[in-house]
Amino acid sequence: MKDTIKKLGKTVEYLRGITQGTPEIAIILGSGLGSLAGSIEGKQEIRYEEIPGFPATTVQGHEGKLIFGRLGERYVMAMKGRFHYYEGHDMGFVVYPVRVFGRMGVKNLLVTNAAGGVNTGFAPGDLMLIKDHIGFFAENPLRGENLDELGPRFPDMSAAYDRSLQSLAMECAGRVGVDLKSGVYCYCKGPSFETPAEIRAMRVLGADAVGMSTVPEVIAARHMGMRVLGISCITNMAAGILDQPLTHEEVIETGKMVEQKFSALVREIVKNWE
Ligand code: HPA
Repeated sequence: MKDTIKKLGKTVEYLRGITQGTPEIAIILGSGLGSLAGSIEGKQEIRYEEIPGFPATTVQGHEGKLIFGRLGERYVMAMKGRFHYYEGHDMGFVVYPVRVFGRMGVKNLLVTNAAGGVNTGFAPGDLMLIKDHIGFFAENPLRGENLDELGPRFPDMSAAYDRSLQSLAMECAGRVGVDLKSGVYCYCKGPSFETPAEIRAMRVLGADAVGMSTVPEVIAARHMGMRVLGISCITNMAAGILDQPLTHEEVIETGKMVEQKFSALVREIVKNWE
């Protein structure tokens, strides 16, 4: 466990040495938000392989690099290609990058993802502000000896997604003409998609969207006291809602279709971040 702190130190030292100070916001780019990286000015791209201590594997549709630069007037860092539990990584590995952000002194995390719509009022292509999450289907990334250097043993999760940032996101959506939905994101480990019975069960539990990422990252971020804002791109209706099978291709295709509006919204949010 102390090895994690040491390793984080090495990663952070390397990144500090080659970048320009502490980014104000770290952005995790989910499927469908890759093009946002194109809006970052004065870009410095660092492939995961180059970063000491950094995990290096990602799945199809996810490139592995950190991008530092300006988005509007803000110095940000973006993570293109995240690590998923379903790839076989343990949770410490999955949340390692978020811990790097925290140790670099980054105070704000904007996390995005592709998700299935559980709420039947949603449609593929909708964007959803994450109000809260259901994560108890997952192993908690904080399991094991607590890393006191990072945060407390029992972190509070009663306002995991910052309320004032949520209001800001809603205002920004109005300005850029995006009909931003909101709801609860439910984590499932994957990699198989859920069954219709699982989706019905999730709806009863209060879920509006389902996905295979984000929750571990948000837990690690809150452990370190980072402020978090989350947005899901509803790439498909969850299993059993439509009479058709779910495919990864559909997820990628819808992600690409909404990329422009998703990027416009994120740019507006970053510009106005308080
Ligand atoms: N389920 C789980 N994860 C997902 C989905 C889904 O329907 N769509 C995109 N990511």
